[in-house]
Amino acid sequence: MTDSSANLIRKQILDLVAAYYQQAHASRPFVPGQTRLQYAGRVYDERELVAAVEAVLDFWLTAGPRAEAFEQRLAEYIGLRHALAVNSGSSANLVALAALCSHRLERPLQPGDEVITPAVGFPTTVAPIVQNGLVPVFVDCRLGTYNLDPAQLEPALSDRTRALFFAHTLGNPVEMEPVLEFARTHGLYVIEDTCDALGATYDGQMVGTFGDLATLSFYPAHHITTGEGGAVVTDDPLLARIARSVRDWGRDCWCNHDSPPEGACGRRFEWEIPGLDEPYDHRYLFVEIGYNLKLTDIQAAIGLAQLDKLPDFIAARKCNFARLYEGLKPYEEFLILPTWSERADPSWFAFPITVRPGAPFTRRDLTIWLERRNIETRLLFAGNIVRQPGYRHIEHRTVGDLPNSDLVLRSTFFVGVYPGLDDARIAYILQTFADFFHQFADSPTR
Ligand SMILES: Cc1ncc(COP(=O)(O)O)c(C=O)c1O
Repeated sequence: MTDSSANLIRKQILDLVAAYYQQAHASRPFVPGQTRLQYAGRVYDERELVAAVEAVLDFWLTAGPRAEAFEQRLAEYIGLRHALAVNSGSSANLVALAALCSHRLERPLQPGDEVITPAVGFPTTVAPIVQNGLVPVFVDCRLGTYNLDPAQLEPALSDRTRALFFAHTLGNPVEMEPVLEFARTHGLYVIEDTCDALGATYDGQMVGTFGDLATLSFYPAHHITTGEGGAVVTDDPLLARIARSVRDWGRDCWCNHDSPPEGACGRRFEWEIPGLDEPYDHRYLFVEIGYNLKLTDIQAAIGLAQLDKLPDFIAARKCNFARLYEGLKPYEEFLILPTWSERADPSWFAFPITVRPGAPFTRRDLTIWLERRNIETRLLFAGNIVRQPGYRHIEHRTVGDLPNSDLVLRSTFFVGVYPGLDDARIAYILQTFADFFHQFADSPTR
């Protein structure tokens, strides 16, 4: 087959894929009460489908030119020099934390060192701390932001404290000034889990650019999706090199898809292994304890198409958040609504709500009401992680007894703000809340 006939077939396939999208995937009408309103989900059109099929036709399969282009676009968007695409946000967290344990750093994290982290959050912010033999020190959150409470940092400090690892909860930036001040004063590493907060800013600066490393997730619920996927970002060339190695089996080599036979380093066959009197191939020089956590080119193709839409996605999330906030404000006597720093511009992942202690109903009453009317709800992840079965027995410390985290465990949930929710859907969500509260119109709080 000639190149031109292959190109013709390729074009026909891609045209058909776009037509297929219109027939099979384009959005269906909204029927209030019957259409399930997910809290989040993939938002895509024929461009993602075409991009994915193009990548399949090229059949690179592993991380190749598209993964590299995706990394470059991500780094540019965030404003850092290095982005490494990985296969999930959890992998990104593992790579970031493991990178700080590298023997190639002057001051690596050592087993038994302590990492301060909030008790409220997603478990895979904490799991890498435990896996690397470090000790999590759990601090409480502030209600409303559900972010770590900076006032808890000083009491969390010990002579083993070496790092802070925290998420910008549901897209709402942490109060960075006191946190960075604390980290600077005590010489601590900072990892920002930005998995839920792509595009959020604090003092006009993108979250993910404050710490030593930051992480992203591209699971379908997140601001952009690659199916499964994530990234580690950093401005530090050494940390980037270490993180790449941790991601890529632990090897030192940074060759890419079009590196020459002599390697990207230009002296691939000249490397040394101590104790070996022959030079060694750089491709098989392992300098870190590594894994294989790469993103595929097919996923990256989808990610590139999604990145084009990111500003619109964020705008839609903010708009939906604002509508929910206005609509739920009348019920503040029952609900703790979200709050955020005046220095922050959140990029909302979802709309968190806490049922106030003493309200004449429980979180369960309200979430079951919503779910039965086809509005998806989610709990704020692990709630207080110290109470989760898998985390009860780990070595850890806590600052006080984490009362706010316990309240989150008991009484907090969230509903969606993702771009798949249009005005009619948001109006239905608000009406369903209103119908629920109608039952309590004259009811004093307990
Ligand atoms: C704050 C936070 N960190 C990490 C993750 C893990 O991301 P992934 O599901 O891509 O592994 C999530 C998942 O939603 C999350 O919310």
